[in-house]
Amino acid sequence: MANRIVAARLLADKTMLFEIEAEHIARRGKAGQFIILRVADDGERIPLTIAHRDEAKGTITIVAQEVGKTTRILNALKVGDEILDLAGPLGKPTDVPAGDKTVLCVGGGIGNAVVWPMATAMKAAGNKVITILGARTKDLLILEDEVRAVSDELIITTDDGSYGREGLVTHAIDQLVADGVHIDECICIGPVIMMKFVCKTTKPHGIKTLASLNPIMVDGTGMCGACRVTVDGKTRFACVEGPEFDGHLTDFDELMSRLSYYKNEEAHSLEMADHDCKMIAAADKLTTETDS
Ligand SMILES: Cc1cc2nc3c(=O)[nH]c(=O)nc-3n(C[C@H](O)[C@H](O)[C@H](O)COP(=O)(O)OP(=O)(O)OC[C@H]3O[C@@H](n4cnc5c(N)ncnc54)[C@H](O)[C@@H]3O)c2cc1C
Ligand code: FES
Repeated sequence: MANRIVAARLLADKTMLFEIEAEHIARRGKAGQFIILRVADDGERIPLTIAHRDEAKGTITIVAQEVGKTTRILNALKVGDEILDLAGPLGKPTDVPAGDKTVLCVGGGIGNAVVWPMATAMKAAGNKVITILGARTKDLLILEDEVRAVSDELIITTDDGSYGREGLVTHAIDQLVADGVHIDECICIGPVIMMKFVCKTTKPHGIKTLASLNPIMVDGTGMCGACRVTVDGKTRFACVEGPEFDGHLTDFDELMSRLSYYKNEEAHSLEMADHDCKMIAAADKLTTETDS
């Protein structure tokens, strides 16, 4: 089945939401799982979380933030376009507590798209869900309404105080603890530095904390080793054993360093893509001028 885009919406600067026909994944996917897609024949394969599924319509929703070449090409696609290939559901589903727990879901930036299915699953199982969504500034906050609908309490933080509470998500966690709110477990997803500090904040309080890790992935099936992370001193493959791991045992510094391995190649690839786009635009202009 062709993976046709049936809806596309700009959520924030450089951040698009796409609803895509993918019947099999819509039926089988679970919170915490992801897909791997390719948008060009000679393009790389990139992982994106299944943010939402509609079994009846046979569609999945993904949210993509433009950070490089592939996400730039993806975010330029329109309703009616098809994704070249799309594989999933991949990874292990979120470990959802049985239903009598208070779960704290913490998201930052594009991680808020991943919090949406996680909080949905936690709530559906009958747990009390407290969610903290963080963004640098109000304009970059995404999916507030969707996440509010599946949370018993929603706290918003912005670094610049333009919306919600001023400060970082860790300040909001500190406040909950200071207010005596009992939290059974926490799950966090966002920039690696944010997850590192969320885990540092919850650890002294003995709050079990899962972090949804985002290492570079290539095949997504445990074959290439690109997604290696170190948890409790052991090498784990995030694509098949994760992406969620015990955040108190994760080596976040190693993950940050591995994510920056290919910075030069990624910048070059984006430059080449820009160059190609300019050449195509110039050729189109020339054709139009010659025709008229
Ligand atoms: C399990 C998982 C779920 C993810 N879910 C989402 C999501 O829902 N929405 C979203 O916007 N992003 C998500 N990401 C990150 C997304 O995969 C990267 O932003 C994307 O691959 C960047 O590709 P690019 O070519 O546009 O950028 P590039 O220029 O190639 O890279 C920019 C940066 O993105 C990261 N990156 C590059 N290639 C990969 C790769 N193959 N796998 C993972 N990270 C990579 C690196 O940190 C790199 O420095 C997820 C990552 C993982 C591992
Ligand atoms: S992405 Fe290749 S082993 Fe995980």
